[in-house]
Amino acid sequence: MRFPPSFIDEVKARLPVSEVVGRRVKLKRAGREFKGLSPFQQEKTPSFTVNDQKQFYHDFSTGKHGNIFDFVMETEGVSFPEAVERLAAMAGLPLPRNSREDEQREQRRKSLFEVMELAAKYFEQNLASRVGAQARGYLSDRAIVPSSIVEFRIGYATADRFALKEYLGSKGVPVADMIEAGLLIAGDDIPVPYDRFRDRIMIPIHDQRGRLVGFGGRALRKDVQPKYLNSPETPIFHKGSVVFNFHRARQPAHEANSVVAVEGYMDAIAVYQAGIKAVVATMGTAFTEEQIATLWRLSPEPVVCFDSDRAGVAAAYRSIDRILPLLRVGKTFRFVFMDEQKDPDDLIREKGVEAFRNVLSGSLPLWDVLWQRETDGQDVRTPDKQAALEQRLYALVRTIQDPAVNTAFFRTSRMQLANLFWQVNRGPSRNQKEAGSKFVRNELRIRGEDQRSGLQKVLLGMLVQYPELLEDKRDVVLRLQFPDAFDQFLSHLFQLLVTEAKLSVSVIWERLDHEFYETLQTVHGDAGAGKPRGHRLFERFPVLKNDPPSDFVSGCLDHFIRILLWHQLEEDIERARLDAGEGDETAVARLLNLVREGHAEQEAISAEGVALSEWAEDIIRVWAPKGGTMHLAA
Ligand code: CTP
Ligand code: MN
Repeated sequence: MRFPPSFIDEVKARLPVSEVVGRRVKLKRAGREFKGLSPFQQEKTPSFTVNDQKQFYHDFSTGKHGNIFDFVMETEGVSFPEAVERLAAMAGLPLPRNSREDEQREQRRKSLFEVMELAAKYFEQNLASRVGAQARGYLSDRAIVPSSIVEFRIGYATADRFALKEYLGSKGVPVADMIEAGLLIAGDDIPVPYDRFRDRIMIPIHDQRGRLVGFGGRALRKDVQPKYLNSPETPIFHKGSVVFNFHRARQPAHEANSVVAVEGYMDAIAVYQAGIKAVVATMGTAFTEEQIATLWRLSPEPVVCFDSDRAGVAAAYRSIDRILPLLRVGKTFRFVFMDEQKDPDDLIREKGVEAFRNVLSGSLPLWDVLWQRETDGQDVRTPDKQAALEQRLYALVRTIQDPAVNTAFFRTSRMQLANLFWQVNRGPSRNQKEAGSKFVRNELRIRGEDQRSGLQKVLLGMLVQYPELLEDKRDVVLRLQFPDAFDQFLSHLFQLLVTEAKLSVSVIWERLDHEFYETLQTVHGDAGAGKPRGHRLFERFPVLKNDPPSDFVSGCLDHFIRILLWHQLEEDIERARLDAGEGDETAVARLLNLVREGHAEQEAISAEGVALSEWAEDIIRVWAPKGGTMHLAA
């Protein structure tokens, strides 16, 4: 039983040598290789090495050397076909059912390459001869130089319907082969198959091994559709896995440790002939997984060029979704957007290769483009929109299969989300370091000082004016942070609460230690000069002059406490942001939570402020305007 080489290759590709060998020999990683004790003779120091990239093992003690099939034959004493069967089973590959059929298929593939070669030669001859004059003119107008024509093996298909067919026929190629190679148009409704490519510039497309597998045919005139006519899928041409110019770009890409991926054939040719030889083209389709893997064979970080128009940006965005699951440590992409609707070919022709190099130097990492895509034009001012963005981003990051890359992307996501939400939260009111409370704005007179210290004074004044609140709000008031003088003042108030049987405004004024007189004066205000006791408080918070109901007073106090706590939250956020910036990973999560909490508090404060404002209006309307408790009745 003979196995087709492609099947053997497939088994090899699926089974790393280390995996096959590892079932018999204990292996330890040593750099790019594995090391272990020779399975072929007794030894104490390991001299047996396995190299997965090169797909072989080498035993320095016995000089034995081979691939996975050799290893199974050697160690299990079986013949080659048996080794293939065992390993195929291990790889989960069904054995080729009819190997003769496969052999024939291999043979056919081989002959298809030959047919394509013949066709390419024919097209090249056309271009060089009299029939190719117009095509040569077209190429020279596009600034494709003769040496590029030779190197890329560019040719010309004449307008004739049977020219290629007759030529290949004269070389003994069966019509069936021409059809299979995609060179003829044929079908049940077509009595006489004829040339697929007519009156087109012919650009040969090669597979990764440099074998000619297809053609791209460029129309010479604008009015001809389609602009490019490509080979159809054939046994040797699979559009989704082909990357144009791969085989020429390989060496230069390895030397430069980089590769540029452009969209079109002509772009690739123009970039290449301008001296950037590490260039390939994706041929205008969305990235396939195979193309991504192929590009990574050229460079760990290929740079992909897209148009800057909407279609180009959309194509870039689409490709990100394809790339994310495949990202690995050290394998990523960069993106470049061409401006002014010029593709690389246009740009180089008009402004030279340096202009293109300039564009390349502005390439963006994949993350940046992903972030742009998810956040551009998004309104994230509300917590629900923020949550939606966060979820969307996390869902995308979750598609990254590589654990290390996945973790890193999550960290970056959290970090940038935190920054974004924090910035968004600093609306206009934020810049004034104020919580957005309509009530505070309308009803308090604290505009000469910052909101926080003004509120602190109002709050302390209210605790003096309404000592019963001291007891009610004790727990939450204790969570507030005050400057030292206020802090000591407050703890003495609480002491009075314990030592005095019944606390009232006058008891406070009489009993509070003298050293607090000044604070008491500031936050509450002594009687005198025609002013009542508490006049400082009433000046700051005039509604209180209307002797409002205790529910209202208590609600106001809650509101102020809430705002003061929010100021403290702001400080926590700023601290967490600094920690996060220094790379503290838990700080990022903490920051995001704090930001979210701060935002929710903002909303709550604002809603509460609206409700209190309405209540205050009622009070002013319904209750006596000055001091007394005279009820006007509703
Ligand atoms: N393409 C294709 N079939 C088409 C149009 C485009 O296969 N009908 C592929 C080709 O590989 C082409 C690439 O998409 O090179 C980009 O197409 P486009 O941007 O339209 O053209 P250009 O590459 O700019 O081609 P040209 O400069 O020759 O106009
Ligand atoms: Mn172009």
